[in-house]
Amino acid sequence: MAPSTLLRLNNLRTGYGAHSVLEGIDLEVRTGEIVALLGSNGSGKTTTINAISGVIPLWDGSVEYNDQRVDGLHPSAIVKLRLVQCAEGRQLFPQLTVLENLKLGSYARGLSSRDMRTEIDRIYELFPVLLERKSQLAGTLSGGQQQMLAIGRALMAAPLLLIMDEPSLGLAPLLVGQLFALIDRINRMGTTILLVEQNAVASLKIAHRAYVLESGKIALSGAAKDLLNDPRVRDVYLGL
Ligand SMILES: Nc1ncnc2c1ncn2[C@@H]1O[C@H](COP(=O)(O)OP(=O)(O)O)[C@@H](O)[C@H]1O
Ligand SMILES: [Mg+2]
Repeated sequence: MAPSTLLRLNNLRTGYGAHSVLEGIDLEVRTGEIVALLGSNGSGKTTTINAISGVIPLWDGSVEYNDQRVDGLHPSAIVKLRLVQCAEGRQLFPQLTVLENLKLGSYARGLSSRDMRTEIDRIYELFPVLLERKSQLAGTLSGGQQQMLAIGRALMAAPLLLIMDEPSLGLAPLLVGQLFALIDRINRMGTTILLVEQNAVASLKIAHRAYVLESGKIALSGAAKDLLNDPRVRDVYLGL
C-alpha cells in the first residue's frame, strides 16, 4: 500500500506587508516520513512552517492536512488536529517547572490526570534528564536541556505531524549528534516529521526526502539519499 499524504502545500504564497517571501511552494509529507526542508538563512523556511501552523495568513494556495483544508484555521485549532510545531528558539515558559511546561503541552487534549501521568512518563522515558530535573524552572536549564523540553512539550500534544524549526541551532556538536538520533527515534516510534534545518548533511542522513528552498522557491527536491550523493548538490548546497 502506498503511504498516504499527510500534508500537502499547493502553490503556497505569502509574505509580510507588501514584501513577498514565498513564491509558490509545492511540498508533500507522507505518513511515516521525515521530510527535511533545507535552505540558507532567509530563504523562507520559518515563513513556510508559520503558514502551515496558521501563524501567518496565506496570500494564495492551500494547505491540506489529513484530508482537510487547514489554511484559515486558528493556530489552536490546528494544534487540536495534532499538527504541532516545536518552535524555534525554545519558547518555553522559563518561570514554570519542567513538569508544568510538559503539562501545558497537552493542554488542548483535555487529558484525565491518569492519562496525563502516562504521557509524562512516556516523555521521561525518552528524555531521562527531564525526569531528573522535573521540579527545576525551565529558564535555568542548559540550552540542550531546554531543547529536549521543547521537543517533549510538543510530543505531549500527540502530534501526527511534528514540525521542528532548526532544533540543532546553538547546540554543542556532541549534542547535535544526540539530537538527530533522537529525532530519528521519535520518527521510528510513529511520528511523522517535517524537519527545518540549516544542518543539511545531518538532516539528509535521517530524512527520507528533502526540499531545498532558495529565495522563496523550491530549488530542488528528492530522496534524501540521492541529494546526499548528488555531486552538484554536495558542491552547491552542502559545501562538501
Ligand atoms: N516578521 C517579519 N516581517 C518582515 N519580514 C520578515 C519577517 N520574518 C521574516 N521576514 C523576511 O522573510 C524572509 C524569509 O525569512 P524566514 O522565513 O525567517 O527565513 P529562514 O527561516 O529560512 O531563515 C527574509 O527575507 C526575512 O527577512
Ligand atoms: Mg528560520
